[in-house]
Amino acid sequence: MTLRDPLSRHIETVLERHLPPPSPPLTEIHEAMRYAVLGGGKRFRPRLVYATAHLFGISQDLADFPAAAVEFIHAYSLIHDDLPAMDNDDLRRGRPSCHRAFSEAIAILAGDALQAQAFAVLNHTPITLTDPAAIVEATRFFAEACGSTGLVGGQTLDLDPHHQPQSLGELTDMHERKTGALIRAAVLLPYLLAPNHRPDEKNDLDRMARALGLAFQIRDDILDATADPVTLGRAPGGDESRGRATFVTLLGLEEAHRRLEETIAACRSALARFGTRSGILESLVSHLSLSEGAKTGPYSKPQGPTSYN
Ligand code: IPE
Ligand code: IPE
Ligand code: MG
Ligand code: MG
Ligand code: MG
Repeated sequence: MTLRDPLSRHIETVLERHLPPPSPPLTEIHEAMRYAVLGGGKRFRPRLVYATAHLFGISQDLADFPAAAVEFIHAYSLIHDDLPAMDNDDLRRGRPSCHRAFSEAIAILAGDALQAQAFAVLNHTPITLTDPAAIVEATRFFAEACGSTGLVGGQTLDLDPHHQPQSLGELTDMHERKTGALIRAAVLLPYLLAPNHRPDEKNDLDRMARALGLAFQIRDDILDATADPVTLGRAPGGDESRGRATFVTLLGLEEAHRRLEETIAACRSALARFGTRSGILESLVSHLSLSEGAKTGPYSKPQGPTSYN
């Protein structure tokens, strides 16, 4: 992976800093955690944290904590998502998935540990930079996003072969949980931690965050059905072969594309009130587009900001 821009390098440094060293007697579990976190990825969620932090004028030093926390949850969710009991994927980001590189037991435990580490990191947010009550509120909100009504709930609905979503409403609900909840958290955590945030701005930010989470998973569904293994970093077509309901299987490819662009437009309109403050966030949103006019490839790293400020 090339780490060309300063923000990419910064994100890798922050993630590395908050991971335990691979030394005895816990060498293997810590290596597995590091393998899953430091093994590439677009870093879309930490980028979102820094973009929203910029919008609310909070420091990079403060944003580092929620940025690492959301990426640790993401990495754990991917380890577990790839397990034989879930999607049974042998590849992730173009490399053996964690349970293939290590053992199934170590992969499960590495996921468990990363989840705990995410909450530890969030709770290390320095109280010199924000109000302790804001950290408590952020932690509560984050727990809900990760738990059985959020990410875990979405994964549960996705896995159930007897109750696959039949309607657009049910599918949207599942997507909002399994992928949307964490993306929403990446957007709202900096808001919650920002000293003197304005409550009247929360509704539009939240509307944007929800639409963004949905757009992200619609895009993931489209790529699963259309991208090649190299750009995808794993075998394509998994959703259909596993009988999973997706925007593509339910609506067809053309309509899924139309919904993606419509959802991206909804993000932009929710950001309108923030004016130039939301420029960095807006560029991350735009990157999700798969329309003909979009300049980026299907699985390229979001460019967004090349540095924090
Ligand atoms: C893939 O997420 C899994 C979903 C939640 C859709 P990403 O596409 O962000 O995966 P990486 O981190 O870039 O590999
Ligand atoms: C993964 O969704 C969602 C979470 C890990 C929470 P997918 O199963 O669609 O992700 P990919 O396509 O394997 O990356
Ligand atoms: Mg899955
Ligand atoms: Mg999967
Ligand atoms: Mg997918």
